[in-house]
Amino acid sequence: MTERETWATRLGFILAAVGSAVGLGNIWQFPFKTATNGGAAFLVVYLLAAFLIGFPIILGEFAIGRRAKINAVEAFQRLKHPAWTIVGALGLFTGLWILSYYSVVGGWVLRYIGGSITAGYFGDPAMYFDSVSMGWDAIALHAVFMALTAGIVAFGVEDGIEKATKLMVPSIVVILVGLAVYAFTLDGAADAYSFYLTPDFTYLANNLGDVVPYAVGQAFFSLSLGMGAMITYASYVGRDDSLPADGGLITVLNTAVGVLAGFVVLPLLFAQFGQLPETAAGGGPGALFISVASAFADLGLLGRAAGAVFFFVVLIAALSSAISLLEVVTSYCVDRYGLSRPGVAFGVAGVLFLLGTLSAWNTAWLGWFDTLAYKVLLPASVLLGVVFVGWVYAPQAVDEIEAGSNLEWFGSVWIWSIRTFVLLGVVATLLLGVNSIYG
Ligand code: PHE
Ligand code: NA
Repeated sequence: MTERETWATRLGFILAAVGSAVGLGNIWQFPFKTATNGGAAFLVVYLLAAFLIGFPIILGEFAIGRRAKINAVEAFQRLKHPAWTIVGALGLFTGLWILSYYSVVGGWVLRYIGGSITAGYFGDPAMYFDSVSMGWDAIALHAVFMALTAGIVAFGVEDGIEKATKLMVPSIVVILVGLAVYAFTLDGAADAYSFYLTPDFTYLANNLGDVVPYAVGQAFFSLSLGMGAMITYASYVGRDDSLPADGGLITVLNTAVGVLAGFVVLPLLFAQFGQLPETAAGGGPGALFISVASAFADLGLLGRAAGAVFFFVVLIAALSSAISLLEVVTSYCVDRYGLSRPGVAFGVAGVLFLLGTLSAWNTAWLGWFDTLAYKVLLPASVLLGVVFVGWVYAPQAVDEIEAGSNLEWFGSVWIWSIRTFVLLGVVATLLLGVNSIYG
């Protein structure tokens, strides 16, 4: 039996976890949702959701993973009882489900890096997106993205994931800052900032019932919760790390990158359109691949360079998230069945490629996969995890949270938060999500 892998350094763990958290959600959802849901007023709600609900849950996942020192499925069995592996299995399933279509979007991003360089989408971005988002083209690039993901995971925790994210995460931040500085020089930047962040508390007050569950659900997705990713990554962590400090830093950086992305995309859009175009209002594909793309098209030669750089950042953000999802199942198969890591990584990627061809064939499928993940699978999986740490495994979880942190009061506050408002927030999000689909 070979020894189980660990991170080489604490920074390596933090960067890998930030890489998981920082993804498409930060770039194509967060800025647009913020701008259209009350600006800084929405930001306040999102910060509350991320720090009061997301942060305690990420700590719960860290406590499970680090305590069990095993994959996210068997962790529950090792800590308590085989029956609880159902929680890990649901998380693993949810992650695979999400990865199947996340990779399709990754394929689009690859296409748009090329399309920037060749000015391929510069004529008519909307028509271009229609022609590349579905069908053989999308399937081929989805395969490439999946292969890149598997290629990194195949190299292992330290030599694959840690080395890759150590390069990727700082690059994401540096390049986004550079692009934000460039965007600052564009005409209309000031209007863009004020559109982005001017608080609209009236809007917020009138739409609390939609905005709050949305913010909480977004915090789950954005922090990569409920998919075994943070459990798995924490299982490679040493016991002298401070989990509250690491979790806090990850939550801060994830939010900061979302805010930063807004300082790139909104000035670009305002420079071309003088307002937020309708295709961007909801975030998602229309925002990135039609609206932002057309802003690059408008900039001519400079837009080709800026577009290539921008979509490259989106690519590495998506890749560093995708590898965390693939690692969940890979670590399970390696721990449990002693299978070869590269074999599992490429084998599972192959299966997910096939599942994802549905989403690549028709974006209606992609939307359906996403809705089910967002509104049902994710909150359900998060809820089970909260029940596990809050009630089934509470004393040991508190002990684990405090280990390495010398904050003796922290554990009791943390477990109290899990048992009260965190639980309430998760249950409400799940009920509202289910209701919005089936109600
Ligand atoms: N957190 C990533 C994002 O914001 C998505 C993701 C979800 C990654 C779950 C890994 C696990 O895009
Ligand atoms: Na995120």
